[in-house]
Amino acid sequence: MCGIVGYLGTAPAAPVLIDGLEKLEYRGYDSAGIALMSEGKLAVVRRKGRVAELAFARTMQGDLGIGHTRWATHGAPCERNAHPHRCGKICLVHNGIIENAASLRAACEARGEAFSSDTDSEVAAHLIDGLYRKEGDLLRAVKGAAGQLVGSYAFAVLAEGERQIVCARMHSPLIVAEGADGVFAASDLAAVQAEGRTAYVLEDGDFARLTDGGVELFDGALSPVAREAVPLGCEEPAPDAGAFRHFMRKEIDEVPQAVQNSIPDLSKPEFSDLCKVLCQTQYLHIVACGTAYHSGLCMKHAAELFARVPTQVSIASEYRYADPIVPPRTLTIAVSQSGETADTLAAAQLAKEKGSRLLAVTNVAHSSLTRLADFVLPTHAGREVGVAATKSFNAQLAVLYALAARLALARGRRAPTLAGLPTLAEETLVRCGRIGAWTPYFQGARSVFFLGRGADRCAALEGSLKLKEISYLPSEGYAAGELKHGTLALVDNATPVVALACDRALADKTMNAVHEVYARGAPVFLVTPFEELYHAREVTASVLLPRCEPAFSPILSVIPLQLLAYHVSLALGRDPDKPRNLAKSVTVE
Ligand code: F6R
Repeated sequence: MCGIVGYLGTAPAAPVLIDGLEKLEYRGYDSAGIALMSEGKLAVVRRKGRVAELAFARTMQGDLGIGHTRWATHGAPCERNAHPHRCGKICLVHNGIIENAASLRAACEARGEAFSSDTDSEVAAHLIDGLYRKEGDLLRAVKGAAGQLVGSYAFAVLAEGERQIVCARMHSPLIVAEGADGVFAASDLAAVQAEGRTAYVLEDGDFARLTDGGVELFDGALSPVAREAVPLGCEEPAPDAGAFRHFMRKEIDEVPQAVQNSIPDLSKPEFSDLCKVLCQTQYLHIVACGTAYHSGLCMKHAAELFARVPTQVSIASEYRYADPIVPPRTLTIAVSQSGETADTLAAAQLAKEKGSRLLAVTNVAHSSLTRLADFVLPTHAGREVGVAATKSFNAQLAVLYALAARLALARGRRAPTLAGLPTLAEETLVRCGRIGAWTPYFQGARSVFFLGRGADRCAALEGSLKLKEISYLPSEGYAAGELKHGTLALVDNATPVVALACDRALADKTMNAVHEVYARGAPVFLVTPFEELYHAREVTASVLLPRCEPAFSPILSVIPLQLLAYHVSLALGRDPDKPRNLAKSVTVE
């Protein structure tokens, strides 16, 4: 992942770069660094940890520079592995993974070149330095080096003494922009704050040169190329946690609004082409990662139940190398909050190559996924800052369930309405007021299980992911009926179990598992809309949800699980907004 920025202009560069990096911290926060050029001389500062560690560098001199916030891939998260990396006159920042770094590094070392980090990125600095020494042309040197690299990269590169930034992109996002007071490069539009700005999204294989004269774009053969300008003013204002202690808590509170805003009206003319394809669709394939994969599982349940359309849900990183069978009349749905997840993009591309139409469900209007897709159904969750996905999951469900209902309609089947869901989500939040009181049972836990059947199992998987990623407690989402086939051996009084029973047809079966774990000493927490279960004796605590269409229940039942994860994270002294080792946008394999 990582985030990169570059600036050349009339303003002091350090604050521009550091402000930009703060906006990109969602991409990784293991270390941060900037390089500034002042009177032709380069100065580099780097720190382990968050961008805030660079506050001292705000007053550094220079109106040209590059910056980086890191999510470690090669080499530990420490200062010597922090970017920018320097070799000779060359200084660069990199987002991506260079897969043939080991062999390239060995070749450099065989020539007597010394490395000062364990990163793959430094290899690129060495290659560019070698070519720059020979050719004296930075753009050509970057192109020559890029031609030797296997993997993914977005680079911003400086040469000491030269007033230019050269950029390159391959499978990692990169935009360049022209503003009134300079030119910019960044991993994301959000990092560029410039009056009167025009931004361009680089395509894979593109290069860019940023100078006082503006931005020049080149294709892979270094021929000048035009790229579509991103509309101005399309980004949202800087997010603010307001009265909340954390963005995650605020974003859970925004779930009802996210659901309300995201339910599409598929009868509108703008969706008529998509609806024609839906009428012909015989198979649904869903590709996604992490939380988005879980929303895909929820969709499978709804689409098969209501529309009887066979639906396959694949983890994108598996799908892309599985030589998947894509029958005619398959609609592939790629679900991704960021629209930049490398595995999801690759899976979506493969599905297209195999003849499938591609529908993107994403929260980012100008993402790589929207550009790749034949159709887009946006989620309108608003910007999600917390690294753990919350409201974006509920928003994905709002879109996918509407799609399931539309598919059912197209087949003359019962199409349940989503109309009441935003209000029910509000009510759920109110009813979850005491979830924080559950945390003492989790603080000393060895591990945690989330159990459910059918749609409840899908929500259980998401609840478990939420808890483990922000509390670091080992946790598993499990099919309630499967527990007794081995895993029950792990359950004891230090193993809290969260059970979901939101479908009356399956609830009593789920309660069997509740009794089994309770009998073995496990504290049990129940999430259910059924009064009689809410008052069951063999549970430690329960939350009573409002009732909804059972197949849609994950959109509500996940809310107490999101809140539980948040409270446990706080009780254990973690940072729920920025859990260790993670990043919001996973643009590497
Ligand atoms: C978990 C989480 C991740 C993402 C996953 C896919 O809370 O946020 O599991 O869901 O990395 O990201 P997107 O949806 O951006 O493709």
